[in-house]
Amino acid sequence: MIAPSILSADFARLAEEAAAVAPSADRRGADWLHVDVMDAHFVPNLTLGLPVVTSLRAATDIPLDCHLMISDPDRWAVGYAEAGAHNVTVHVEAATDPIGVARDIRAAGAHAGLSLKPGTPLDPYLDVLRHYDTLLVMSVEPGFGGQAFMPEVLDKVRQVRRLVDTGHLNVLVEIDGGISADTIEAAAEAGVDCFVAGSAVYGADDPGAAVEALRERARSAVPDRG
Ligand code: DX5
Ligand code: ZN
Repeated sequence: MIAPSILSADFARLAEEAAAVAPSADRRGADWLHVDVMDAHFVPNLTLGLPVVTSLRAATDIPLDCHLMISDPDRWAVGYAEAGAHNVTVHVEAATDPIGVARDIRAAGAHAGLSLKPGTPLDPYLDVLRHYDTLLVMSVEPGFGGQAFMPEVLDKVRQVRRLVDTGHLNVLVEIDGGISADTIEAAAEAGVDCFVAGSAVYGADDPGAAVEALRERARSAVPDRG
């Protein structure tokens, strides 16, 4: 799966930017549209919030993947699920009661995602992850697009892939940060299911074509995973 991140899109033309990666007769298109919510508190940057997500939800049929880089997700995450996001991801470093947050997100009808910053270990959260649908492994420090991929986080991807493949865990494995034609194969080989890509999609002349090219590269790295 490919999830273009609108962080690298033109914020004044979000509906058109979503349409540029949408499925069409000859293209599978984006599987999810990744929406980076930043509060200038949990991360230094500030982006957008619930009103924009609500409007975007009405402007596109692509399932929205909301990545909340905010403090106190215990309070705010459920609103994004109620606004119609398909998947709502919170940071484990920010959540007070991550199991409670997952319960609230799911009760509001969305999938629940848990994200780990590059330096956050996986082991302490394996039990918590049983309450989640998605694990988002950050491969850059959250806050900005266009940063260099950190290959060392792939150890976490390999570990969770093994647990999923042996039936010990049931999560979709997503990666976010520095994914491009140069890095997506290594991430695919490590076992990623869903690749977030901001600058590699919206920095391209044809964002729709970039989505297909990234997917093909991932697929060719692991033909048996399809
Ligand atoms: C970074 C965001 C990412 C960002 C990725 O904090 O979470 O989703 O858009 O951008 P690229 O793909 O350019 O690294
Ligand atoms: Zn993100």
